[in-house]
Amino acid sequence: MLKLLRNIAKACFPEYFERKRIRLLNAIIGAGAVIYKSAIISNTNKKDAVKIGAGSHIAGMLVNCDKGKISIGERSFIGEDSRIYAVLNITIGDNVQIAHNVNIYDSNIHSLNPKKRQQEFIVNTTQGFTQINDWREQEVIINNNVWIGAGSFIMKGVSIGENTIIGAGSVVLKSLPPNVVAAGNPSKIIKPLDQEDQNQIPD
Ligand SMILES: CC(C)(COP(=O)(O)OP(=O)(O)OC[C@H]1O[C@@H](n2cnc3c(N)ncnc32)[C@H](O)[C@@H]1OP(=O)(O)O)[C@@H](O)C(=O)NCCC(=O)NCCS
Repeated sequence: MLKLLRNIAKACFPEYFERKRIRLLNAIIGAGAVIYKSAIISNTNKKDAVKIGAGSHIAGMLVNCDKGKISIGERSFIGEDSRIYAVLNITIGDNVQIAHNVNIYDSNIHSLNPKKRQQEFIVNTTQGFTQINDWREQEVIINNNVWIGAGSFIMKGVSIGENTIIGAGSVVLKSLPPNVVAAGNPSKIIKPLDQEDQNQIPD
């Protein structure tokens, strides 16, 4: 009976329930940001460890472990099945387009040593992800107006300069300057952005 009443209330006042759903998420969420039903925000840290700027749309997954922080600027998009996985710091600027199935990591997550990896597995599956892991963490920075094509991987320590485009299916292991198109595994610069495109910066 209670469930039926709740469903009727949800149908009558969808905006109220949507606001409540957003308020309950463990993240600082800017005005007009949209958190899709497909989105997962798994923030085991304080609320301000995950920040989503005004007008951004999140359809993918934001996960942090230990002291990990994720910051997303204004009017940026994180596509479905994309995963931002921070143990240190992943910063995404304004007007960034991240397509679907993109993975961004600021660490290795696991040790290179098989014995340690097994110990990590035991701890991770009983106590969660902790400092026991040999993270080898390095901050990741995705600057304003970057577009990351579907199915790409952005690995630890990478910084991507403003306006730069990453082709679909790329694996980015090294930092990239602003205003270039890069693609492939490992990703390489394939061309500079046209001068005309470089000058068309969003407001
Ligand atoms: C990177 C991209 C934007 C470049 O588009 P473009 O400027 O029209 O480039 P072109 O198709 O003319 O390709 C230029 C060169 O780069 C290569 N290239 C383009 N995309 C590539 C990719 N993803 N991986 C590897 N090489 C790629 C092409 O083979 C071509 O090489 P060549 O000059 O030796 O023939 C586009 O190929 C791409 O990957 N877009 C992402 C699409 C996507 O993921 N959309 C999801 C919705 S957001």
